[in-house]
Amino acid sequence: MSALSPVNAKGPVPRHVAIVMDGNGRWAKKRFMPRFFGHKAGVDALVKTVLSCADRGIEHLTVFAFSSENWKRPTEEVSGLMGLVLVAVAKYLTKLADRGVRIRIVGDRSQVSDKLRAAWEHAESITRDNTRITLSVAFNYGGRWDVVQACRQAIRDGVATDDLDEATLNRYMALSYAPDPDLFIRTGGEVRMSNFLLWQAAYSELVFTECLWPEFDDAALDAVLAEYARRDRRFGGVKDAPPAQALRQA
Ligand code: IPE
Ligand code: IPE
Ligand code: MG
Repeated sequence: MSALSPVNAKGPVPRHVAIVMDGNGRWAKKRFMPRFFGHKAGVDALVKTVLSCADRGIEHLTVFAFSSENWKRPTEEVSGLMGLVLVAVAKYLTKLADRGVRIRIVGDRSQVSDKLRAAWEHAESITRDNTRITLSVAFNYGGRWDVVQACRQAIRDGVATDDLDEATLNRYMALSYAPDPDLFIRTGGEVRMSNFLLWQAAYSELVFTECLWPEFDDAALDAVLAEYARRDRRFGGVKDAPPAQALRQA
């Protein structure tokens, strides 16, 4: 395992990092290339980032690869992205599996092709026992979809209304196996969540960077981690003061 950079070694390392990998299209446009070229470069940036996160002791990396709303894009771009997933799995799965990456896919699988579903299932099954880092790929994912699918499953399971508290609903959310993201990064310069992890990011530290996703490298990752290490996380409390739980009405 490579050494931690001095800057990160000093501060807390997030357990779970979530990334909106945005800016592929603009990166390609700057090079007078089609958007697909940017998406392809984005896959390479993702593979490097997963391994860099693992090197830094991050346990979970969750990335936004295709949103519930990305179906609004031209047919050619959508089918290009679907095809790219198959190419990426064929090209990188063995490498990621060998490096101890566990892969999980989160999102609505009912709307993707059988071929894509089979590729996801294969990636999940051959990496199931890996423990170095969990890469969750959010594909056809939306934060609102996630809340709705969790509620539906809870109702199907017969959870009683009075038993449906936050912890119970969380067990039905797509990322129930992971702690909430400590750090939520968006590349590409836009300052919005675009329907990613709405429930899970309630107390995430948000970092927005102008860096376009295909350019996101170790230096960019370390800069964001250094920014995270400077943040003062309070979760609604006051630093170093005991909570007044005793006053709370049952
Ligand atoms: C993000 O890059 C990747 C996907 C949404 C699949 P974009 O394709 O949104 O790139 P920009 O924002 O147009 O530059
Ligand atoms: C968010 O990026 C989705 C992904 C990165 C997969 P978009 O490019 O789709 O978001 P908007 O449309 O700018 O909000
Ligand atoms: Mg975009």
